[in-house]
Amino acid sequence: MSQAHALPSYLNPDHLGPWGNYLQQVDRVTPYLGSLARWVETLKRPKRMLIVDVPIEMDNGTIAHFEGYRVQHNLSRGPGKGGVRFHQDVTLSEVMALSAWMSIKNAAVNVPYGGAKGGIRVDPKKLSTAELERLTRRYTSEIGLFIGPSKDIPAPDVNTNGQVMAWMMDTYSMNTGATATGVVTGKPIDLGGSLGRVEATGRGVFTVGVEAAKLTGLSLQGARVAVQGFGNVGGTAGKLFAEAGSKVVAVQDHTGTIFNSNGLDVPALLEHVGNTGGVGGFAGSEAMDNADFWAVDCDILIPAALESQITKDNAGQIKAKLVIEGANGPTTPEADDILNDKGVLVLPDVIANAGGVTVSYFEWVQDFSSFFWSEDEINARLVRIMQEAFAGIWAVAQEHKVTLRTATFIVACKRILHAREMRGLYP
Ligand SMILES: NC(=O)c1ccc[n+]([C@@H]2O[C@H](COP(=O)([O-])OP(=O)(O)OC[C@H]3O[C@@H](n4cnc5c(N)ncnc54)[C@H](O)[C@@H]3O)[C@@H](O)[C@H]2O)c1
Repeated sequence: MSQAHALPSYLNPDHLGPWGNYLQQVDRVTPYLGSLARWVETLKRPKRMLIVDVPIEMDNGTIAHFEGYRVQHNLSRGPGKGGVRFHQDVTLSEVMALSAWMSIKNAAVNVPYGGAKGGIRVDPKKLSTAELERLTRRYTSEIGLFIGPSKDIPAPDVNTNGQVMAWMMDTYSMNTGATATGVVTGKPIDLGGSLGRVEATGRGVFTVGVEAAKLTGLSLQGARVAVQGFGNVGGTAGKLFAEAGSKVVAVQDHTGTIFNSNGLDVPALLEHVGNTGGVGGFAGSEAMDNADFWAVDCDILIPAALESQITKDNAGQIKAKLVIEGANGPTTPEADDILNDKGVLVLPDVIANAGGVTVSYFEWVQDFSSFFWSEDEINARLVRIMQEAFAGIWAVAQEHKVTLRTATFIVACKRILHAREMRGLYP
C-alpha cells in the first residue's frame, strides 16, 4: 500500500466497517474528478475526530461510563452539519462514514455546510428520562469546544429527537452564557425549530420521485408504491404519493408486512400507526410474509427503515422500476449492481433523503436572523432546491453514463474539492 493510501493506525484494515464502503465509493468517483483528483485524499481522512468519555450517575447511584464521538469529516464548504445517534452498536468507523456521507449530501444539495456526525454507544431504551438527560448534557459539555453555530451544528438521528436537541441547546447555552438556538437543528418549534422540518425528508423523497417519474415517463396516477418503514420518512413519503394519486399497496415495518392490491387507506394507516406503534393488524389489509415484501408487484419501492435491506439475496426479486432511498445506506453495493443490470432506477440516499438537512439549513438561517418563515415558504424553497439539485445530478449521470449514485458523488466531490483548492492549504 502506498504511503498516500495508508490507512490510519486506529482502524483495523481487515474490518474497516462502513468507512470501508465509503472509501470504495470515493475510489469509484475519482476517475471523474479531472484535475481535482489531486486533492482526493482529503476526502479519505476526516478532518477532526473527538472521542469522549461520558460518565453519568445512574438512578440507582452507580456510575456508568459511555463512549461518545463527534467527527468533522470536511469543513471546506462551511461548518460541520450532521446528526447525533444514540445506539449500542455505534462505532468510530460508522460515525466516520456517516460524517462523510453528510459532506456528500450537503454538497449535493449545495447547502453551505461541511459534513459531521456524532454518536454515543448506548441503548437509550435502557435509560430513564433523567438518565438520558444527564447523558445528553454531559456529552454536549464534552464536545462543547468542538461544536457551535458557526463551527458544527448537530441534529437528531437514530434514537435522538427534539427533546434531546432541546437539552443540547440548553447545555451549550448555559456553558457559553448566552442562548444559542443555532447550535443544533431539529429543535421543538417553541425553541427556534422550523415549521416543515418534521415532514421535510419525506417531502424530499417525494419531490425527487416526481422528477424521476417525469423523466422516465412513469405516471404517478395509479402507480403502485411499496414502502419499508412507516415512521417519519416512510409515512410522510407514503402520504404524499397517495395524495398524488398513487396506490400504496404494501407497507412493512418492525411489526409486520401489510398488503392491499387496491391501495391502502394511508391517512387511516397513519392513525393506526400513531395509536398502536406499527402497521401490523391494520383493518383493510392482509398480512404478508416479511420475506415476500421485496417481490411485491409495484412501480416504486421506498426503503425508509434501516441500512443494508436490499441485498444480493433479494435485489433480483424486486419488480419496481424506481427505488427511492429514504433510509441511509439501504442498498448494499452488490445489490446496487444487480438493480442497475436489471434497469431499475435507484435514486440514492445522498440526494433522495437530503430534504431533512435542507430544512435544517433553513432552521439555522431562521435562528441566525431571528425571523421565521411560513410553512408554505419553507416547502416551496425545499422543493426548488431538491428539483435543481436533482436536475444537475441527472445531467451528470447522462453525460458520463453512470448511475445516479456515482453522479451525485461526482457533483458533490467536485464542489468539496474545488472549495479545498480555492482555499489552498494552510499555512
Ligand atoms: N428523519 C429524518 O429526517 C431522516 C433524514 C435522513 C435520513 N433518514 C433515515 O431514514 C430512515 C428512517 O428514519 P425515520 O426518521 O423515518 O425513523 P423512524 O424511527 O421514524 O421510523 C423507522 C421505521 O422503520 C421501521 N423499522 C424498524 N425496524 C424495522 C425492520 N426490522 N424491518 C422493517 N421496518 C423496520 C420502524 O417500524 C419505523 O416504521 C433511517 O435510515 C434514517 O437514518 C431520516
